[in-house]
Amino acid sequence: ETRDLEADFERTVAAEGRIEPRDWMPEGYRRTLIRQIAQHAHSEIIGMQPEGNWILRAPSLRRKAILLAKVQDEAGHGLYLYSATETLGVDRAELTEKLIDAKQKYSSIFNYPTLTFADIGVIGWLVDGAAICNQVPLCRSSYGPYARAMVRICKEESFHQRQGFELLRTLMAGTDAQRAMVQDAVDRWWWPSLMMFGPADGDSPNTQQSMAWRIKRHTNDELRQRYVDMTVPQAAALGVTLPDPELRWNEERQAHDFGAIDWDEFAQVVKGAGPCNAQRLANRRAAHEEGQWVRDAAAAYAAKQARRTEG
Ligand code: 3HC
Repeated sequence: ETRDLEADFERTVAAEGRIEPRDWMPEGYRRTLIRQIAQHAHSEIIGMQPEGNWILRAPSLRRKAILLAKVQDEAGHGLYLYSATETLGVDRAELTEKLIDAKQKYSSIFNYPTLTFADIGVIGWLVDGAAICNQVPLCRSSYGPYARAMVRICKEESFHQRQGFELLRTLMAGTDAQRAMVQDAVDRWWWPSLMMFGPADGDSPNTQQSMAWRIKRHTNDELRQRYVDMTVPQAAALGVTLPDPELRWNEERQAHDFGAIDWDEFAQVVKGAGPCNAQRLANRRAAHEEGQWVRDAAAAYAAKQARRTEG
């Protein structure tokens, strides 16, 4: 009986079909989806903090309105992804506890500080650009709820990237000091944005199985390469230099060669020893505790509604 179910599952995945919540799935498939989608959701929620830091400091009402819309989008992406995770039998309250207790991860990129307003443009251009490279293939992930969540999220991410690039182009057309502010932000965010794609393929314990289950459609290094090749001409159009002296076009490979990533830094940040890890988790814990009354009120209201409908 299970053998038939397993054969069905394998056939569906091999035929680029969709696995839906009520379908039979191997325990490992469920577990790795919960791991990846929960951590993706955590990344969206934690990602609100670095940008939120500039909502009250935005240089104009227009920039404040754009940034507010973007941070609200990230919150929405997080809720979307928690809903997708809940179709696998876990509850977002449990996932939030795991995040706050550092038992689940979120993207390393959000552990760096946003020191100037140019960081907001660079996050839009580079971080959301990297996220787009990583998320577009996930629209073809074998798990239905995840793939469908990605379609909506990718549409909003492209607005995020365009507003970031436009913000930087405005600064680059400004004063020397503004141009220097942009270059400083690019220097600080370039290498961490490469680390968003995860460890090198040879050091990735999950890639092979995730590719076989068509959760992942490309490996970490393939997507990282795609991101570099996409970004180099954009940096030229912007008039900034990417901080990698080994970055150059390789005619033979038809791709850019680039320097070595500092995997010690990556490991440190993933382990929790990055510049802002403690602050990000402390803020998330505080927001969760301070929000208890909202959850209680919503639950009380729902119970009252239920009593009313029961009559
Ligand atoms: N930060 C933190 N942890 C990372 C990481 C990073 N940048 N890259 C990899 N890791 C972790 C993995 O989670 C895994 O640990 P785990 O087994 O405890 O979960 C370990 O390092 C080994 O990495 P693998 O490559 O084996 O793990 P995956 O196969 O899961 O690949 C991934 C990592 C490419 C991030 C993949 O999980 C993925 O595509 N996730 C969905 C996309 C995502 O989470 N993006 C976050 C970017 S932020 C974002 O999108 C928000 C946007 O609004 C900017």
